[in-house]
Amino acid sequence: MEKILVIGASGQIGSELVMALRKVYGDLNVFATDIKDAPRDIMESGPFQILDALDDQQLTHFVVRHKITHIYHLAAVLSGNAEKIPLKAWDINMRSLLSLLEISRECKVKKVFWPSSIAVFGPSTPRENTPQYTVMEPTTVYGISKLAGERWMEYYNKRYCLDVRSIRYPGLISYKTEAGGGTTDYAVEIYYEAIKSKKYECFLREDTYLPMMFMEDAINATIELMELPAEKVRIRSSYNVAGISFCPNDVANAIRKHIPDFEITYNPDFRQAIADSWPMSIDDSYARANDGWKHMYDLELMTDVMLTEIRKKLHL
Ligand code: SER
Repeated sequence: MEKILVIGASGQIGSELVMALRKVYGDLNVFATDIKDAPRDIMESGPFQILDALDDQQLTHFVVRHKITHIYHLAAVLSGNAEKIPLKAWDINMRSLLSLLEISRECKVKKVFWPSSIAVFGPSTPRENTPQYTVMEPTTVYGISKLAGERWMEYYNKRYCLDVRSIRYPGLISYKTEAGGGTTDYAVEIYYEAIKSKKYECFLREDTYLPMMFMEDAINATIELMELPAEKVRIRSSYNVAGISFCPNDVANAIRKHIPDFEITYNPDFRQAIADSWPMSIDDSYARANDGWKHMYDLELMTDVMLTEIRKKLHL
């Protein structure tokens, strides 16, 4: 029987992944943890506990006590926020990963998932159709921590045969829990503001293309990767996985099909330089060859779902 620990269960990915994992593995077998309370459905449908990813002792104790077999470590400081507290962000992102890898090795955890990001690439990387293997010189503290993390993941796999798996997520779009402090998060905020006030001031330029993905696709890609037989997972650093690619102007046009008088203005801030250093689109042929994975949501379908669900959530 698999026993699954999710660290960062209250965040943008965790709040959706926990519910999807509970459907697959059973409510009581998926232990949700975070440093803050999770959405109600998570706290009410199965085990939840406050747990700090930086507390080695508590984490070890938890893994042993609940005989944890799989761990998903999702807690991280995102790109925009990390630039405001570089050393602290490095400490949180790296120390939590290293202690997780060490605890997983010591406690013989069967599988570990840790997300990487398109932020591992930098200005010297080809920006269109960015390949799996290419120049990687990230210029953000978040990107540097994700690239270092990828190297450590692969190290633990090669050196200790720890079954680690990872995806370089593009910008993730979702309505359940808002992300905090990412560069791609304009593409979540814009839908909320479109519904609340029919206008949005965007912190990126109108023509800033970035790779993006609707959360349901990201969750499916993650669970499919974790279910693959170990011998099929050849990349132990992290897989490129692509969904869609669009710029703020494209989202505004998609929203106008539903809200014709929606207005967007542009006031780029420090996140523009981060976005300009990242890929515009991703080549994910390695991931697709693995399991035939393919995203389902395009910009139109995603816009439809985002607007409908946010209206429901805000009772508008
Ligand atoms: N969405 C993340 C961010 O913008 C990238 O992984 O920080």
